Amino acid sequence: MFTGLGAAAALPALGLPAAAGDGTWAANWRTLQAGGPSGPIRLDANENAYGPCAQAFAALEGSAQTANRYPKHEYGDLTDAIAARHGVKAEQVILGCGSAEDLRMTAATYLGPGKTLVMASPTFELPAQHAQRLGAQIVYVPLTRDYAHDLDAMLAKAATGSGLVYICNPNNPTGTLTPRADLEAFIRKLPATYAVLMDEAYHHFVVGAPAYTSFLDRPVDDPRLIVTRTFSKIYGLAGARIGYAVATPETAKCLATQKMDFALSIVSARAALAAWNDADSVPTGAARNARDREEFYRQAKSRGLGVIESQTNFVMVHSGRPVEDVIAHFKANNVLIGRPFPPYTDYARVSLGTPTDMEQFWRVWDLLPPKNLPA
Ligand SMILES: Cc1ncc(COP(=O)(O)O)c(C=O)c1O
Repeated sequence: MFTGLGAAAALPALGLPAAAGDGTWAANWRTLQAGGPSGPIRLDANENAYGPCAQAFAALEGSAQTANRYPKHEYGDLTDAIAARHGVKAEQVILGCGSAEDLRMTAATYLGPGKTLVMASPTFELPAQHAQRLGAQIVYVPLTRDYAHDLDAMLAKAATGSGLVYICNPNNPTGTLTPRADLEAFIRKLPATYAVLMDEAYHHFVVGAPAYTSFLDRPVDDPRLIVTRTFSKIYGLAGARIGYAVATPETAKCLATQKMDFALSIVSARAALAAWNDADSVPTGAARNARDREEFYRQAKSRGLGVIESQTNFVMVHSGRPVEDVIAHFKANNVLIGRPFPPYTDYARVSLGTPTDMEQFWRVWDLLPPKNLPA
């Protein structure tokens, strides 16, 4: 069993080779998941560089021994725990193979030929990919100068037709917020022919922002609202693929018709429940991320670099040169950073890694050639 610092010794039980590192289970885990000591430093996918909590590790290891079994009570256990914490009924929670599956279920429910997806630009692209595949029209609305969703413009675009509005709050890739009061006013005015997909994947990283409140702060009672969350970010279980949506019972029933049967593994469901029940995962992860973010700002400032202030586990930093060149430079130096997000073509999105990862990041940053030369 993995138990805190003793967990490194348990790695061979999983058939994994002992890894070089600083001797802690977290270091061993990072080395293994990065593909070995020479694997790239992964600052490209907004993952949790520290990995899941010790209780989730223990659940992962324990579940491996029952991997020959189909999940039985595991979905129910996890669903009940999530529902209880959010004060909703179990039938209002739809587990997904990552919140990506919940996004897909929502798109499949509300989009198709003749339907419209209204979304920000830039934002997380996955809903647009589904809309395209489903034959729906996509209307992009640029973010405001403060990098919030431009809700007036989005409302104007949704004045006619029917479909879905996608709101990512905090937004990926900018890490910025759209105030709750503005969102409520927006939903009140939105024609009844549109549903709203509120993606709160990065919810837990928001610190000290009174204008932000999750839409799960009270039971969801609007049939047009679907709120999604994930275990991939603060809980460090991106590879386990587990997320969920919360909606009214009627809406949840519609979404569930698009669900893939038995999509979640028994291993993922157990690990997620263990992480969910660990009272420390969220506060510890959020405080650590806030410290990492502050340190990122400090390093950026010391180099005269502008940043978009973020409420997430990633930051957009002004590179002052084509981001493709910056990405290529980092890749050549064994560091992966985020993809380009037009129209912010001279900003790089950097997921926050461990202090050691970030030391390497800044070392590589300092190797960038002067701005007027090709990278
Ligand atoms: C805004 C947003 N929503 C959803 C997802 C999908 O996450 P997952 O499927 O791992 O829950 C991501 C992944 O990075 C994301 O950035």
